[in-house]
Amino acid sequence: MPDQTHPSAAPVLPSATQVARDLELARDRTTWLTELDEAELFAQHSPIMSPLVWDLAHISQQEELWLIREGDATRPGMLPPDVDALYDAFTQPRAIRPSLPLLPPVEARRYGHEVRGRVLDALERADDVFPFAMVVQHEEQHDETMLATLQLRAGGPVLSPTRQLPPGRPVPRDSVLVPAGEFVLGVSALEEPTSLDNERPGHVVDVPAFRIGRVPVTNAEWLAFVEAGGYDRQELWSSRGWEHRHEAGLELPLGWRGDGTRVRFGVVEDVPPDEPVQHVSHFEAEAFARWAGARLPTEVEWEKACAWDPQAGRRRRWPWGSAAPSPELANLGGGALRPAPVGSLPAGASAYGVEQLVGDVWEWTSSGFEAWPGFSPMLYAQYSAPFFGGDYRVLRGGSWATAASTVRPSFRNWDHPFRRQIFTGVRLAWDA
Ligand code: AVJ
Ligand code: FE
Repeated sequence: MPDQTHPSAAPVLPSATQVARDLELARDRTTWLTELDEAELFAQHSPIMSPLVWDLAHISQQEELWLIREGDATRPGMLPPDVDALYDAFTQPRAIRPSLPLLPPVEARRYGHEVRGRVLDALERADDVFPFAMVVQHEEQHDETMLATLQLRAGGPVLSPTRQLPPGRPVPRDSVLVPAGEFVLGVSALEEPTSLDNERPGHVVDVPAFRIGRVPVTNAEWLAFVEAGGYDRQELWSSRGWEHRHEAGLELPLGWRGDGTRVRFGVVEDVPPDEPVQHVSHFEAEAFARWAGARLPTEVEWEKACAWDPQAGRRRRWPWGSAAPSPELANLGGGALRPAPVGSLPAGASAYGVEQLVGDVWEWTSSGFEAWPGFSPMLYAQYSAPFFGGDYRVLRGGSWATAASTVRPSFRNWDHPFRRQIFTGVRLAWDA
């Protein structure tokens, strides 16, 4: 029986110096993604995304709100109230953001620089670094959103890769057995101090035996589904999925052109067969799984396969153990601009031998987004709670575009089941 009172590893409280470094890394990434001319930053590259200049100022507006104004939007801030209000994600839907009188990039950058100066002063005096670590994750999440926006952008490339990926290896495309038994789902603040509210608290759950794919589903496997008529076989789809497949005219993953090529960040290239498939909706993922005689994992199964060490009877901080993520362990950080081929990261395998769980592609699960028992909201109380019980499916593991500071085996992302502009992929599961 797992003992909840024993954290999986000695608590590693991030020091103020570490958090200051993570704030700087996040800003470097924001800068990398927004070193574009004013017209590009104001353009709406897709109706479902914000203009980049909105994300740019929203990042700093939230940083000021949580770290300087203590979350109280009625407290006077550095922007005039009517300008400040433009960056409230709840009152300004994405579709109308291009029509707002947004701060031009020069002003947004100047505002961001002033906020950051005050934040670094506040960090030196802070006795709780959690709000700062939370703000790092917020900025990094918007950086990933901006990567999704730039992937949808038409025209020639504006980004080039800054990281080389290791080659794939001939890895068995099989499944691993995760025997029935209890494990600790979720984490405590003590063992995972930068975890967000929806990952807490850790609690024991009993999981029936299941099998899970050793590696994510690849483009070659997806092509076989396409060629088998998977998009035209109603019996493979949920009724809602089938309706959406017709309304949206889905025939291929987003970005595929039907001639074996795809567009990525403004470059046309052959679809790489051994790369994990990405840009598929939950509806497509479900149909693929049914065609393959499988199903999607629940998020509880996913987390057990990722974090549980059955020999030790406790969680690991990362699938591979406690070492910080490195390029041999996981493809994170965005520099690769793509997922790594399957089999390329054997050192990153979990205790059960499951590979590429963290990084590469967000993996759709069959679970809706719900609170763990004992949930209590964090300072940014509207981060998770308004979305519990909504029309969302949980995604796990982060993608190639996710920062290492912003993903953990307990990290929970969520989106509508029809979404596919984010870096989503598929891992199969089976009842055992
Ligand atoms: C956790 C990715 C679903 O982008 O909608 C950013 C993160 N919340 N700003 C989103 C978020 C507020 C959120 N996701
Ligand atoms: Fe936000």
